[in-house]
Amino acid sequence: MTPRKKPGGAVVRAEKLDFAYPGGPGMRFELSVAAGDIVALMGPSGSGKSTLLNLIAGFERPDAGRVIIGNDDVTALPPHRRPVSMVFQENNLFAHLTIAQNVGLGRSPSLRLTADDRTAVGGALARTGLSGKEGRLPNALSGGERQRLHIARALAQEPRILILDEPTNHLDIEHQIGLLDLVRAQDLTVIAALHDLNHAAMFCDRVAVMQAGSLVALGRPAEILTSRRLAEVFKVRADIETDAAGGCFIRYARPVAPSGRATAIPEAAARAEAPGHPVNAMHFTADRQD
Ligand SMILES: Nc1ncnc2c1ncn2[C@@H]1O[C@H](COP(=O)(O)OP(=O)(O)OP(=O)(O)O)[C@@H](O)[C@H]1O
Ligand SMILES: [Mg+2]
Repeated sequence: MTPRKKPGGAVVRAEKLDFAYPGGPGMRFELSVAAGDIVALMGPSGSGKSTLLNLIAGFERPDAGRVIIGNDDVTALPPHRRPVSMVFQENNLFAHLTIAQNVGLGRSPSLRLTADDRTAVGGALARTGLSGKEGRLPNALSGGERQRLHIARALAQEPRILILDEPTNHLDIEHQIGLLDLVRAQDLTVIAALHDLNHAAMFCDRVAVMQAGSLVALGRPAEILTSRRLAEVFKVRADIETDAAGGCFIRYARPVAPSGRATAIPEAAARAEAPGHPVNAMHFTADRQD
């Protein structure tokens, strides 16, 4: 894993943020992120991850509470006046603009770029491994490259905080890991909504767990990703292996059938398991962590 220069970025604090969509239930967020940390925001679908990211970036306004970045209260500032860049859950590249122009939009919506802007665009393309592809259109990139293009546009804004909403969606495993490693190499504070618990454990300094519109846990991956919490919040059975370096690895078990027995594994599939590799459902061990 790429080592990180520290400290980078800025402190981020969401202080007693109250928020509700029209007609929706109230949510209450409280989150503190140290300068230069990478935090994985995790939780079931609909638990409020994108909402909290949008509140920090300024795309939503809280009904009460404050967003602090560094020493500044930015709660009343619009997104472009916050030192934050956000990569959204949906693809928002412009298909008729080149790679360089798509990145340039991060500097100027009218694409009237100064020499400084061009330097920032070139730097962002280099940091994301896209140098040499400036003149192509987005559909002439692979999915992994397109995702790096989103990150390049965010980096071109020279933010102190990088916010990523499910940045590894639709990527193959090589590109998922490559993208998270790239993010880790940046000297920034990063808050990323992620679904893959093992990726959070591999690449993140802290894990923040959301459930039903509030934050229910925050800490180091090995402290937070316990069998009990995975069962309570994510509704999965899993065994957690920890190592001496504080790392952890999540081994999922197959769902349990209503009878309480592990789901039957077809004989052929069981035979296909390599010798010495247990079939998880049959060898699931009870919580050791909590
Ligand atoms: N614009 C909106 N208007 C009304 N309700 C919304 C809006 N956006 C989200 N919600 C609701 O707010 C809750 C939290 O949504 P949010 O998008 O923050 O969840 P999430 O944790 O990001 O989920 P996912 O993992 O599916 O992306 C959900 O119940 C959702 O239906
Ligand atoms: Mg979301």
